[in-house]
Amino acid sequence: MKKILFVSSEVFPLMKTGGLGDISSSLPGALHALGQDVRVLTPAYGDTLTALAHTREITIVQAGTELRLVEGTIPETSVPIWLLVHPDFSERPGNPYLAPDGSPWLDNAERFAFLCRAAVDIAMDRVGLGWKPELVHCNDWQTGLIPPLLADEPARPATVFTVHNMAYQGLFPHDVFLRLGLPRWLWSPDALEFYEQMSFIKGGLVFSDRINTVSPTYAEEIQTDEFGCGLQGLLRKRRNDLRGILNGIDDGHWNPASDPLIEARFDVTSLDQKALNKTALRREFALHDAPDRALAVLVGRLVQQKGIDLVVEAIPELIEAGVQLAVLGTGDPVYEQRLLQAVRRYPGQIGVRIGYDEALAHRVEAGADLFLMPSRFEPCGLNQMYSQRYGTVPVVRRVGGLADTVEDANPTNLTLGRASGILFHEPTPSALVKAVQRALVIYRQPAAWRKLQCTGMCKDFSWRQSARQYLELYRAAVLSCQQAKESAGAHFRT
Ligand code: ADP
Ligand code: GLC
Repeated sequence: MKKILFVSSEVFPLMKTGGLGDISSSLPGALHALGQDVRVLTPAYGDTLTALAHTREITIVQAGTELRLVEGTIPETSVPIWLLVHPDFSERPGNPYLAPDGSPWLDNAERFAFLCRAAVDIAMDRVGLGWKPELVHCNDWQTGLIPPLLADEPARPATVFTVHNMAYQGLFPHDVFLRLGLPRWLWSPDALEFYEQMSFIKGGLVFSDRINTVSPTYAEEIQTDEFGCGLQGLLRKRRNDLRGILNGIDDGHWNPASDPLIEARFDVTSLDQKALNKTALRREFALHDAPDRALAVLVGRLVQQKGIDLVVEAIPELIEAGVQLAVLGTGDPVYEQRLLQAVRRYPGQIGVRIGYDEALAHRVEAGADLFLMPSRFEPCGLNQMYSQRYGTVPVVRRVGGLADTVEDANPTNLTLGRASGILFHEPTPSALVKAVQRALVIYRQPAAWRKLQCTGMCKDFSWRQSARQYLELYRAAVLSCQQAKESAGAHFRT
């Protein structure tokens, strides 16, 4: 059994803006089920404190300042969690990273440096918890200062840094670096400096014992100029320490056979029930009852990464091809507006809900025929896995985790019964339209369509395999940490 401190800026259901939130509760849950002593650290935002039952409050002192931790368990699990209480987290409504006008909070560097320092104090057992982890698992830039801050500690635990998205790097001007009072030696291109800015993500990439990302394909892609976001050189240098481990899903929470949030439950033996969910979804999005039209959907952050611009451009041709479209999302106001305009242009054929709605996301998965994910890049992606589980056929670009989790409905895969979706290559509206047309050809052959749905529904997207791969990664990180300490000790003695 390993003692693991898992640090993340969002943990579902306490806070979630995207897949990171889901993973930060489902992966610790899977590790806990494998008998690991995993404990989660995350900030206490807004009203998250009230969501925890049976809590204990602990006061700790950090650099002469008192701070509070609230201890409990992630709701509906027995995974221990510590919430870091501070007004800079708890007194900010809404999104944890963005102010209501959509721009980043001005003190994000200070807020997440504070989280990192608290993690270091817990990791070094300096706060009176009487628990010292062997390994700290850091996630994304918000936790990127943990490995460099631990680097100087002779009795440090091992560190693993998971990249959920290379595009978000936590870049700040040099004066923020000074203001944070970080050790001066960290200001170097070999450490946190990135083209005269301070980079949180570099802290994780340079100093952690092991790095991973959330799919095998993305682990390769980020070593290239196209996907590396300027850090491909560093990643290539560390390629022997870099792994791609596919995300799993919480298959209890995302299960159409038992989902309490959907209109009618179903599994492969009762797939006809899915039609009731489609009817309900059409009603909810004010779409006409058009039996000949397939219902295509998209749930997600409405940003360039997700290729939402391609969808917006493709709308006239998609409607022409014979689909209806329902979109649930929030993000770039330009795309939000263009989607709302499309609703006015195609009333009854397009429905859009701007906002974040977890329960509606389940109903959308349950009621749709096609799920569109024309992502420019996709480290892993969860919706294509949720979709396959719900008999909703994903139409995805062949990138990152999408390439690793969807089997294209080409003639060979169809014959072999392996096909579970449609993959396309070019990031263009016309390639998306062609892919949807390809899906529609199969949609109009009910037996072939049902086979596609059932193949997706029967795939195993659980954490069973991936959680074990994390345990292997942890073992490798602990070993390399020991070796680093030994060679530092030897160096010190000579
Ligand atoms: P990313 O993390 O890049 O946003 P993922 O596919 O990994 O993409 O995960 C997105 C998660 O967030 C999914 O669980 C998805 O259902 C959820 N999600 C995104 N936008 C919304 C929304 N507007 N309402 C409800 N759930 C959403
Ligand atoms: C990121 C990625 C997404 C991934 C998620 C969880 O937000 O954009 O592809 O599934 O993290 O790892």
